[in-house]
Amino acid sequence: MRPVVALVFAASALVAAHAASLSLGKRIVLYGQGHVEACADCHGPQGQGRRHFAYPRLAELNPSYLLSALRSFADGARLNGIMTPIARDLSPQAMGAVVDYYAEFRPSVRPLTQRVSRSRMTRGYRLYEHGDLQDKVVACARCHGPQAQGVGARFPWLAGQSQAYIKEELRSFRAGGRRGLGLGLMRAAARPLSNRQISDLALYLRTIGTKTRLLPFRPNPPIMRLSDQNFSPPRRSAVPITVFGKAVLRGRAIFDHTRRYAPRYVGNALSCRDCHMGEGRESNAAPLWAADALYPRVHDGRVMTLAGRIQAAFVHSESGMAPPLGSRVMADLLAYIHWMSRGAPIGAHIAGRGYPALPRSAQAPNVVQGAALYAHRCEVCHGGNGQGIRTQGDVVFPPVWGRLSFGRRSSLGHMPTLAAFLAATMPYGQPDSLRSGQAYDLAAFLEARPRPQR
Ligand code: HEC
Ligand code: HEC
Ligand code: HEC
Ligand code: HEC
Repeated sequence: MRPVVALVFAASALVAAHAASLSLGKRIVLYGQGHVEACADCHGPQGQGRRHFAYPRLAELNPSYLLSALRSFADGARLNGIMTPIARDLSPQAMGAVVDYYAEFRPSVRPLTQRVSRSRMTRGYRLYEHGDLQDKVVACARCHGPQAQGVGARFPWLAGQSQAYIKEELRSFRAGGRRGLGLGLMRAAARPLSNRQISDLALYLRTIGTKTRLLPFRPNPPIMRLSDQNFSPPRRSAVPITVFGKAVLRGRAIFDHTRRYAPRYVGNALSCRDCHMGEGRESNAAPLWAADALYPRVHDGRVMTLAGRIQAAFVHSESGMAPPLGSRVMADLLAYIHWMSRGAPIGAHIAGRGYPALPRSAQAPNVVQGAALYAHRCEVCHGGNGQGIRTQGDVVFPPVWGRLSFGRRSSLGHMPTLAAFLAATMPYGQPDSLRSGQAYDLAAFLEARPRPQR
């Protein structure tokens, strides 16, 4: 056969196979098969789910995620009284067919009928986008993506999902009932959540993308928090509405999305927050409030100012060039950092600065073991090629080597700092889970990868 004819043949065979799969899927979803109940009874004919029940919406979920969910019900990795028996009765072909069928629909999410408390929505939104430092809740958005649209096949979409379902799953992850595919990432994320936080999150997630009517605003009494550290930065929402406050907000935007808001000075894909966790607020993850109090200080026999330190960060950590001292980028970043450190003692070495130093283990770091650990614990987010994951052009998980990562002469390029950083922060959402030797093996592996020379 000529190649073109063969291609047409193969293509039409594929189309026919897909059509057969769709019609099998339709039959199972609408009418069931053998002992298997019709999926539509609980998930709806178009995967829209059932309001008020913990029957999840399937419509927006990534097909590979759906397939792996069905497989994990069947093999017992995810046990559920309803779904496990159903999935065990489905052949692999039938599983593929229902997934193909549901992939055809995108029914719109119905708005909530009742009006919703504005303060609960706001709390849910803040937790989702930024987490909560004091309660050790990590930002859900880092794994589930902006607007909860999901990231790739592993991090599921959540926007508009049934509230009852979200609550049930979060409680189950928290209690250790649902393990989650892979590496316990979601269990670690759910562990610190309180019941109130869970219901605020479920409410917020349910309303994304719908027009929700809010109840009139009733301010909460301010909560005074004492942290275990000597110092905690002001709440995110406490930025004043003034000229200074606007600079603070611009500075924060630059800190979080450096390439987007300071493109002239950035040569790689990293933002300041990728290494200064929690938007520069988290203690023991190089918080910027601890830096402000310490500069100017002597570095390499010269007096270095905070602005000079920021310039160095742009050159080495961002593989770019230094913003001039009088530039708006510099002024905005300084405003953000200064705002965060209000009330911190000047000139003091505040507890929580930098990353906790990590004692070197007796063995020399081992690159081969580092590579194996990377495949096991890091690849899911940073990719097998180290280039991270992007959705809609936005970096979700940053690259850890190559042209778009940090330079050899950056602070993180220094092996003991890199090991300390990894032990304190990675895998994201599971800090303090690497042993010292493992962190050094990983650091050695990352050092051995190509990256910018500067
Ligand atoms: C009697 C009601 C019922 C029927 C019928 C049913 N499901 Fe489910 N399904 C559930 C419930 C409840 C859950 C949540 C399970 C949990 O909490 O782990 C679920 C979860 C799922 C999930 C995981 C969704 C996620 O977001 O992780 C998939 C996929 C799924 N069902 C597919 C199907 C398919 C395909 C069928 C038909 C073959 C089907 N279900 C039939 C009630 C049902
Ligand atoms: C470190 C990454 C990470 C973080 C942070 C994270 N999640 Fe998840 N989440 C996951 C993964 C991975 C899964 C899929 C688990 C599985 O495969 O069974 C998941 C699953 C879920 C599910 C079940 C969805 C479904 O369709 O069954 C819910 C609900 C959820 N996450 C909510 C949250 C909320 C709320 C937060 C913030 C408090 C959060 N997640 C933070 C990684 C994360
Ligand atoms: C690739 C990771 C990375 C990126 C990206 C990064 N930094 Fe850093 N930064 C570090 C490390 C590591 C240190 C050293 C922390 C220590 O001393 O333990 C540091 C230190 C600093 C310090 C001094 C802190 C102190 O306590 O002395 C400042 C200020 C700073 N960075 C600002 C920035 C700014 C502003 C950006 C964005 C333009 C940025 N950094 C981007 C990794 C990074
Ligand atoms: C659940 C996803 C996830 C996993 C798993 C994970 N990371 Fe990360 N990593 C992130 C995120 C998100 C950031 C940026 C943090 C931020 O912006 O708050 C990051 C930042 C980094 C950085 C600094 C920025 C850069 O790109 O160079 C390094 C280095 C890094 N991770 C290495 C690792 C290593 C090594 C592992 C395995 C032990 C690992 N990560 C596991 C999500 C993950």
